[in-house]
Amino acid sequence: MATVIDGKAIAQTIRSEIADEIRLLSQKYGKVPGLAVVIVGDRKDSQSYVRMKRKSCAELGIKSFDVDLPEQVSEAELIKKVHELNANPDVHGILVQLPLPKHLNEEKVLSEISLEKDVDGFHPLNIGKLAMKGRDPLFLPCTPKACIELLQQSGVSIKGKRAVVVGRSNIVGLPASLLLLKADATVSIVHSHTSQPESIIREADIVIAAAGQPMMIKGSWIKPGAAVIDVGTNAVDDPTKKTGYRLVGDVDFAEASKVAGWITPVPGGVGPMTVTMLLKNTLEGARRYIA
Ligand code: GUN
Repeated sequence: MATVIDGKAIAQTIRSEIADEIRLLSQKYGKVPGLAVVIVGDRKDSQSYVRMKRKSCAELGIKSFDVDLPEQVSEAELIKKVHELNANPDVHGILVQLPLPKHLNEEKVLSEISLEKDVDGFHPLNIGKLAMKGRDPLFLPCTPKACIELLQQSGVSIKGKRAVVVGRSNIVGLPASLLLLKADATVSIVHSHTSQPESIIREADIVIAAAGQPMMIKGSWIKPGAAVIDVGTNAVDDPTKKTGYRLVGDVDFAEASKVAGWITPVPGGVGPMTVTMLLKNTLEGARRYIA
C-alpha cells in the first residue's frame, strides 16, 4: 500500500513557520506582508478559491487587499486597478483570479502586474525564465510549486527520474513540467491528443495528474512504487452527501493507492499546499521589499 501524503499536515507546518516569520518582520520593521486578491465576476468556483485565499491571509497575519470587480468591468478599468496596486507600497503580492471573463485579455492583464509582485508567477517574463535553463523566475506558480514541495517533503528524489505530467494548462500542467525539468527529471507531457496515455504513464516514477477528468487514471496505469500527485479537484454527484456532491481527483485513489509508493488524497493533498505556496510567495515578496 502507498504512503498517503498528508498535504494538510505538511501545509500546517509550513504555515506556522510563515506566521513566525511574519511576526518577526512585524516586530523588526513594523510592517506586515500585503496580498491583493483581485476577482472579476461571480463564478462560484473562483469565489470559493478567493474566499479561501483571503481567509488564509488573515490567519497568518498577511494584510489582504480585497478587489471585487463586476463581470462587465472594462479591460482599461481592470488594468488601472492593477497599476494602483503596483504603486501601493503596502501591497507585496498581486493575484488576479483566473479565468477572466471572455472580453478581457488574460495575457495583457497578467503582463501589467509588476514582476516583483507577481506571486502567482504567471507574468510572461516569469514563465519565460521558468522555461529557460539557468534562469530563475522571481516567483514560481503556486500549484506546481506545491507538487514539488510535496515530493521533496516525502523524500521522493526527482533528479534523473521519469516524470509524466497529465495535462498542459498554463496554470498547472505546463509550469509543472518545466519545474520538473529544472529539477533534472526526464519529463513527458500527456494531453487530450495523446494516444494510449496509459502506456506513457506506466513508465513514470513520478506522475502529476492535472487533467480535470474525474478518476481518469486507473490503478493499472501506475508503475509499482511510483509517486502520484493528484491535482484534480472534480465535483461528482453524490446524493449521500449533504452538499449533493463530493470531490474526487484525476486518479482512481482506491485502485492506485494499492500500486503506488506515494499518493496524495483528494481533498487534503495538493489543495491546502497550493494556498500555502501563495502565502510563502507573498512573504518572499515582502521580505525582498521590507528587509
Ligand atoms: N484559477 C485556478 N487556479 C488559479 C491560481 O493558482 N491562480 C489564479 N490566479 N487563478 C487560478
